[in-house]
Amino acid sequence: MWEYTDRVMDHFENPRNVGVVPRIDGEGQVGSLSCGDALRLTIQVDKDKDLIEDAKFQTFGCASAIASSSALTEMIKGKTLDEALAITNQDIAEYLGGLPREKMHCSVMGQEALEAAVANYRGVPVKSAQGELVCKCFGVTDVEIEKVVKTNRLTTVEEITQFTKAGGGCGQCKPGLEELLAKILHQQVAASPDGSAKPTRMTALKRIKLIEEAINTEIAPALMRDGGDIELVDVEGHEVLVTLKGACASCPASKATLADFVTERLRALVDKEITVKEFHA
Ligand code: FES
Repeated sequence: MWEYTDRVMDHFENPRNVGVVPRIDGEGQVGSLSCGDALRLTIQVDKDKDLIEDAKFQTFGCASAIASSSALTEMIKGKTLDEALAITNQDIAEYLGGLPREKMHCSVMGQEALEAAVANYRGVPVKSAQGELVCKCFGVTDVEIEKVVKTNRLTTVEEITQFTKAGGGCGQCKPGLEELLAKILHQQVAASPDGSAKPTRMTALKRIKLIEEAINTEIAPALMRDGGDIELVDVEGHEVLVTLKGACASCPASKATLADFVTERLRALVDKEITVKEFHA
């Protein structure tokens, strides 16, 4: 069972802007019923001001797909087309107070539907659909994967599956995904001035939110499976203070858990410079 925030549940139970806009100026359809999630987004544009005056959606999918679509329509109404296009899938997830890592593909689907609707209105091709098809099961291209990897600082194929579904079907594309991921990460390292992987600048607030999300959605659930738990106490710069609980609190291997699992996952998911210390009250 997924852990959803109150905001996700609110948008799932009371979705905003369901349906089709009275005058369809642009339309984006992503996903497919056979893949489990599908989203149709329609927008009505004030052509003089180049802004989205109305947006509605129709979604087939889970709670997070419906909540992400609902959030997206609320976020883009009243924005210019360029302002709307600047919205990332991370922004959609943050608007909802976070999504389970395994459900992040719903926020990506929303962002892609928006891109498709604006492209449709402007009469231009959708950029992410132009690339080479990497995952046949879910129709995901290399351009889409590169964008998602860079936006969300992904570092593993498993994460690519969580964010795009690619690799989550027959699995035949996994070697191709590994190769593509290695190429993207290599490019990022080569492009940074000091040769280290820092693809995007991160604010302190964003780092704290990502740390919280990583602990709540991945690290704590993994420790709980063995009777342990972890709680975030504080974040100062790159230093993360945590308290180990349950079986982890008295485990002789707790130092290794912090170093080999918690630190490694936070570095992979959030920031490569993170250090983790145990807090003792
Ligand atoms: S081709 Fe990607 S999972 Fe089947």
